[in-house]
Amino acid sequence: MRLDKWLAHAGLGTRNDVKALIRQGRVRVNDTVIRQPDVHVNVDHDRVICDDEAVRAPTRLVLMMHKPVGVVSARKDTWNRTVIDCLPKPMQRRDLHIAGRLDKDASGLLILTTDTALVHDIIAPKKHVYKTYDVVVDGRLPSREVFSKPRELKDGKNRPYTPHPPRIVRWEESAARVAVREGKFHQVKRMFKAAGAEVIALKRVAIGNLELGDLPEGAVRELVSQDIEALLMSDKED
Ligand code: URA
Repeated sequence: MRLDKWLAHAGLGTRNDVKALIRQGRVRVNDTVIRQPDVHVNVDHDRVICDDEAVRAPTRLVLMMHKPVGVVSARKDTWNRTVIDCLPKPMQRRDLHIAGRLDKDASGLLILTTDTALVHDIIAPKKHVYKTYDVVVDGRLPSREVFSKPRELKDGKNRPYTPHPPRIVRWEESAARVAVREGKFHQVKRMFKAAGAEVIALKRVAIGNLELGDLPEGAVRELVSQDIEALLMSDKED
């Protein structure tokens, strides 16, 4: 990892702030003063010191957020508030990836992490990690049978795919709780639309066995290893 990135991750300032620290000769790597911000340092073996104080090595960060409606699942956006803008400042400087975006008009559980392998494990359909959604439709729901009928849909690049049969957790007059294995563009809305119903509210309430619970809207919390186990809980039966 680049030296300036390491210092920024540790919360010593913005990328420009830490570059200045390095150029001022205040940073040592294994007892050698380094003045180039782009020098590569090894997170597992090197020791970084700034102003005679050890700078902790960056560790994996896994966050769950209750994404509010109106916020976009992107790192940067010219017009809208992003999920990164919702984080405390030191977390905003981490190299966070979004594991399964939510539409701007959807809310609920969103995972952000520095661990790209974890992102893959959450979103890859082969891993069988179900994403559970509360849905409200305009008018009445179709029957469960009509909704569950296998249908070809289009993904975000207009490529055809047929979703794995959804799990129906709850089915009421115009509200339902369903779980899907994939995480394709507008997937849940498109599954309901194909069955004749328009989704007017969508909230992700769980990923694997990790539930959104009572995390307030806009809030974020760091996950511990038991949470991550729950998150990756897959069902090998289907
Ligand atoms: N399916 C959708 O249609 N939208 C989302 O945000 C997530 C799943």
